[in-house]
Amino acid sequence: MDATDTGTDLEHVLLSEEQLAERIRELAAELDRDYAGQDVLLVGVLKGAVMVMADLSRAMSIPLSMDFMAVSSYGSGTKSSGVVRILKDLDADISGRHVLIVEDIIDSGLTLSWLIANLSSRGPASVRVCALLRKPEAAKVVVDVAYVGFDIPNEFVVGYGLDYSDRYRNLKCVGTLAPHVYS
Ligand code: XMP
Ligand code: MG
Repeated sequence: MDATDTGTDLEHVLLSEEQLAERIRELAAELDRDYAGQDVLLVGVLKGAVMVMADLSRAMSIPLSMDFMAVSSYGSGTKSSGVVRILKDLDADISGRHVLIVEDIIDSGLTLSWLIANLSSRGPASVRVCALLRKPEAAKVVVDVAYVGFDIPNEFVVGYGLDYSDRYRNLKCVGTLAPHVYS
């Protein structure tokens, strides 16, 4: 368990700090090989992907650039609808560049499929996705994800960038919340 105040709110730890760090290192090594000699732009999706972006980019050794987007999905309650609004767009033109979207988690896949289509329409050399977590049971649309950290059960998780009401992002592990947090 993490030595943070919010640690006691966790029901169980799904992925420890060590497991996350090891998988990030493996993904970084794979990306170093696949993008060697290419002009790669990591696009982090705010806010959830900040931890993955920070750790993944520092674990990579090839030259790279970073940019961020913030999007909001409209839907009923907490469900993603696939209707997406851009809250913060990229700073720069991506035409001719190799874009790697860095995501915290893929749930229904609706947000991501919209994002892939949106970025692909801007004339990049390529668009691929690296997601730390994926919930295969929740998928509503098939999204081609080139790099996945972990497939996890269809449960709501927090930590390592992921939030509940904008809290718990700073937990070093990924876990589920105890029932008392929701009541
Ligand atoms: P899609 O469109 O794939 O939405 O359904 C993905 C976005 O939904 C959020 N999300 C979560 N956030 N714990 C979280 O903190 C979760 O278990 C979770 N599942 C989905 C997240 O913002 C992601 O980008
Ligand atoms: Mg969120």
